Amino acid sequence: MDAQTHVSGILSDVSPFSSDVTAALTPQAPPWLRERFPSAGGVVPFRTFMEWALHDPDHGYYGRGRARIGPSGDFATSPSLGDEFASLLLRQLIEWLEQIPGDPLSLLEAGPGEGQLMAQLTAGLVQRRPDLAARLEVVLLEPNPGMAARQQRVLQGLPLPVRWSSWEELERAPLAGVVLAHEVLDALPVDRLVWDGTRWCWQHVACDSEGGLALRFGPPLDAATLTELAPLGLPAAGLRPGWCTESHPGLAPWFRSCAGALQDGVLLVVDYALEARRYYAPQRSDGTLLGYRNQRTEVNPLVAPGEMDLTAHLCLETTQRAAAATGWHGLGERRQGEALLALGLAERLATTRQRASDNLAEELARREQLLRLVDPMALGEFRWLIFERASVSRPPGHLRSRCLRDPASGGEASS
Ligand SMILES: C[S@@+](CC[C@H](N)C(=O)[O-])C[C@H]1O[C@@H](n2cnc3c(N)ncnc32)[C@H](O)[C@@H]1O
Repeated sequence: MDAQTHVSGILSDVSPFSSDVTAALTPQAPPWLRERFPSAGGVVPFRTFMEWALHDPDHGYYGRGRARIGPSGDFATSPSLGDEFASLLLRQLIEWLEQIPGDPLSLLEAGPGEGQLMAQLTAGLVQRRPDLAARLEVVLLEPNPGMAARQQRVLQGLPLPVRWSSWEELERAPLAGVVLAHEVLDALPVDRLVWDGTRWCWQHVACDSEGGLALRFGPPLDAATLTELAPLGLPAAGLRPGWCTESHPGLAPWFRSCAGALQDGVLLVVDYALEARRYYAPQRSDGTLLGYRNQRTEVNPLVAPGEMDLTAHLCLETTQRAAAATGWHGLGERRQGEALLALGLAERLATTRQRASDNLAEELARREQLLRLVDPMALGEFRWLIFERASVSRPPGHLRSRCLRDPASGGEASS
């Protein structure tokens, strides 16, 4: 996700736990959300609130298909900038598909959003490698009906066989191929953990009788969660009350489902992710959760439920552990900037310079697109995490991945 402006302003200066929060700043629950709270006792875990705000099939940001992805939408993703990202990724995709035995092969995408990435990839593949394209079917996994309906409109004319499926259906007949998960895992609802001055608590969301939403200290964390997070660096004390962070209970179930669907092949996860030492650093006092709306970031997650995207970064180690525990072999990880350079982005920039005199405006736009994809302050900081489901014919760790090579030396970098 790439939003140009950070709306910290008034709200970031006010602790959501502060009694100074005035009624004027209290986010309001829309009627559909307000009605849910009384039967839940007036207070719900943050994860439930996030699930409702994003995935409620009638009102959620993704559930009802409300998401607007792209430079003129709520936030931009790499494929929504144009087709340069897909064109470079396609080089990696072809290298992987050539190494996976099977006919047909499948190209799966989880959370395809507006369908741009798959449309661009398949158009490129048919043009560059019609032989591979002829062996390929496209499978899309989208749990939100509103988004699936939009994808169907964009992808119905795809030059390859395409179907929408579910993890449960695929588990009954697992596939061989490649799974793409581009900016999906950051949409899985997270738990928020908050320090109350003496101990760790779950963060809850309360809704008062007027519909005002507020963050609350919930019950203390259980010993199992603390034991899991302490070695990752969750601070044990010395924080200000209200210091909070996130944990990702949805990751392991997601990786397990994905492993059940793929019997042989690769999974590429692309998302903002931080090492645990950065994720749980004491100075990161409000975690990584942000809202996105109209190209702006919003620090208060309770604002405009159902109208705004909510995302939390991944913790690298947590993600890798969840994958390893559910049948995946990690092949390595790279920052997007490095991965795209290894796939030839620099050469493409050089060509852009040479062609600039022919069609200046077009080439400058292309150049800007390429530079945004590797900008270390934005999309270039994304992580590419690569996992494998090895087969009998190919033991784990033998799959070549050009995106993991060191762009400078041309040699395979260590994972
Ligand atoms: C931020 S959008 C990313 C869209 C697209 N991949 C892109 O990069 O432009 C997140 C997408 O993931 C979908 N999604 C959310 N939770 C999901 C899940 N558990 N499994 C698969 N897709 C999910 C959303 O409905 C939406 O289509």
